[in-house]
Amino acid sequence: MPKILVTRRTFPEAAEVLRASGAEVVIWEDADAPSHEDLIAAVADIDGLYAHITNQVNAEVMDAAPNLKVIAEFGVGYDNIEIAAANERGIAVCNTPGILSESTADEAFALLASMARRTNDLPAMVKRGEWGDFDPLGYLATDIHHKTLGIVGMGSIGSEMAKRAAGFNMNVLYYNRNRRDEEFGATYVDSLEKILERSDYVSLHNPLTPETTNMMSTDQFKLMKKSAILINTTRGPVVDQDALYEALVSGDIAGAALDVTVPEPIPADHPLLTLDNCLIMPHVASATGDTRMKMAMMSVENVLAGVAGDWPPYCVNQTEIAGNARIKS
Ligand code: DGY
Repeated sequence: MPKILVTRRTFPEAAEVLRASGAEVVIWEDADAPSHEDLIAAVADIDGLYAHITNQVNAEVMDAAPNLKVIAEFGVGYDNIEIAAANERGIAVCNTPGILSESTADEAFALLASMARRTNDLPAMVKRGEWGDFDPLGYLATDIHHKTLGIVGMGSIGSEMAKRAAGFNMNVLYYNRNRRDEEFGATYVDSLEKILERSDYVSLHNPLTPETTNMMSTDQFKLMKKSAILINTTRGPVVDQDALYEALVSGDIAGAALDVTVPEPIPADHPLLTLDNCLIMPHVASATGDTRMKMAMMSVENVLAGVAGDWPPYCVNQTEIAGNARIKS
């Protein structure tokens, strides 16, 4: 009987499908995610790992799990998994692509709108009883319509962002490693520098890789308009947070809205949390009930296929491990 470890609580429906497969299923039900040491201890005899962003699934974890055939990440980003180590060992790595793109873009656009129209700071002022008499020059916000949105990373989530921006009459630019065949009404710009210089809002949708780590730092903030707003719903390390703090304080950019930070959770005494022009959400772009349920079911599909010796439907390293895949041995 194969054994599967699920590293966080999941929907009862997903747990039921896992258990109905006949596999032995262990679900980590603690309020806190397993520590790295807990994870290493828990994987000893598993065949399938249903993992989450909070798990650093590195070579050490894989070596502690000699029977491990498949890692099913709950999410589209799998930068928490050491993919080279999985490839070497023939372990299939899977994710949940597509299913969360619209919810993530909804949140990214909500952050943009909140920063633009000040739903991030004015409600607190009202609650403090500081709403003064009508003032034609008071509480001024920034338009969304006819402003320029720069999308960095035109994958599935970036494309959904472009569609939402078109509905708001925005002018949309995008920068991507490769120009897209389908551009969703956006205009391709051939460098990060150019898109930063021209945009009123910059929304990051590129994956975290060694090349994109600290992609947004002091030099990049200095290229942006002083009135510009940064939105980050991809991964915290794409933005150099010390440089962002400086840029927000010095006025190099006007504001930032982050769904992701370094570390996560961000400590309550972090300097970014002292700024009125910085809005931080707790990594929830995909967190709607419907989308999280679909992600759970996709993760279940992936892990069950892998432990049964079949290629998981959303395997990201099938080509790399074709010759040494453990699911085929
Ligand atoms: C994703 O899908 O990558 C989300 O950020 C959750 O990890």
